Amino acid sequence: ASGQLLDGLGRPLRDLRISVTDRCNFRCSYCMPKEVFDRGHPYLPHSALLRFEEITRLARIFVAHGVRKIRLTGGEPLLRKDLEQLVEQLAALRTPDGQPLDLTLTTNGSLLARKARALKDAGLQRVTVSLDALDDAIFRRMNDVDFPVRAVLDGLEAAQAVGLGPIKVNMVVKRGCNDQQILPLARHFRGSGVTLRFIEYMDVGATNGWRMDEVLPSAEVVERIRSELPLVQLSPNAIGETAERWGYAGTDGRHDPSLGEIGVISSVTQAFCGDCNRARLSMDGRLYLCLFASQGYDLRALLRDEAADDAQIASALGAIWQGRTDRYSELRALLPADSAAASRRIEMSYIGG
Ligand code: GTP
Ligand code: 5AD
Ligand code: SF4
Ligand code: SF4
Repeated sequence: ASGQLLDGLGRPLRDLRISVTDRCNFRCSYCMPKEVFDRGHPYLPHSALLRFEEITRLARIFVAHGVRKIRLTGGEPLLRKDLEQLVEQLAALRTPDGQPLDLTLTTNGSLLARKARALKDAGLQRVTVSLDALDDAIFRRMNDVDFPVRAVLDGLEAAQAVGLGPIKVNMVVKRGCNDQQILPLARHFRGSGVTLRFIEYMDVGATNGWRMDEVLPSAEVVERIRSELPLVQLSPNAIGETAERWGYAGTDGRHDPSLGEIGVISSVTQAFCGDCNRARLSMDGRLYLCLFASQGYDLRALLRDEAADDAQIASALGAIWQGRTDRYSELRALLPADSAAASRRIEMSYIGG
């Protein structure tokens, strides 16, 4: 199982995103709009969730199949009780040539000030923090639960202080909602050691009421920043990377590493499915081959089937990956917007982005 596993479009499996809870304490309108995710919303019961031992067992099999990076997501992953215990188990995994994994987590930052130290001690390497505005009023409106921006900034500082880095900050840009925050955020993080990334608002799930005219194309983000802060394009760090990199230029017009860089993630205007090496595991043990999938593969049943050993799970997983032909973002323009598949698409809060 340690050979090069390729999917139906020749793409290897490298990146595993594990969602550990479908709950969140924020209600960002582009992800968990309040009208839908209200008190009566049917979240999964605890008994449906994979136990940490089950997640780690699967992760070990994924690593044997080529996974080198594991990202914990949610909902909000830090809401999962005792998450540091899972981090500790995953941090102990090794690649076939004895290397630790790139182990990271995407969080809204609200609980980070409290948890940064324990996460670091458990073996987490870095974090990515979502932050849609620097202005407190706009931030409170974006998270829609009146959460203050200061607490997230404190979380970021705590993460920096304990050495959970390099840190990235993700801003989802929604035209007319927070696009006036692009430059303030850029100025704030320039030279701070934090890489700020701008994400095009995507049509994930079936509840956020996505409209193309609310997408601000990354090219425009880059132009707006470049008009004030000179930028030069940088080459990719890795194949299949989500973000295109731009470095801040010094007075000589060349990239000045001390000023840092930004990234733009252009899933809408410039799809990056061609090298997509990401698999997604939901908290209830379903494997999804694309962020825009409407169906997953039930690995929990396999895990809980006493007759299935690791080798059998590994071969089932290999067959699933080999059958993969997903490339939704490349096909988006060709598909009818209101197709039946669109209404069955999994939610971002279920699969973690
Ligand atoms: P790094 O390893 O730090 O570069 O992280 P990442 O960019 O892989 O993950 P992150 O959780 O920070 O995701 C950033 C944004 O890109 C989120 O909005 C994700 O939903 C989006 N994203 C990540 N992977 C994919 C993908 O495979 N397809 C699409 N369409 N969007 C993705
Ligand atoms: N479009 C783009 N990004 C989104 N995220 C959540 N919903 C959307 C969406 N509809 C982002 C989060 C987080 C990352 C994992 O995904 O803000 O940074
Ligand atoms: Fe929560 Fe992140 Fe979704 Fe916002 S984008 S509702 S913080 S999971
Ligand atoms: Fe990968 Fe699907 Fe995103 Fe394309 S749309 S990059 S296939 S997850």
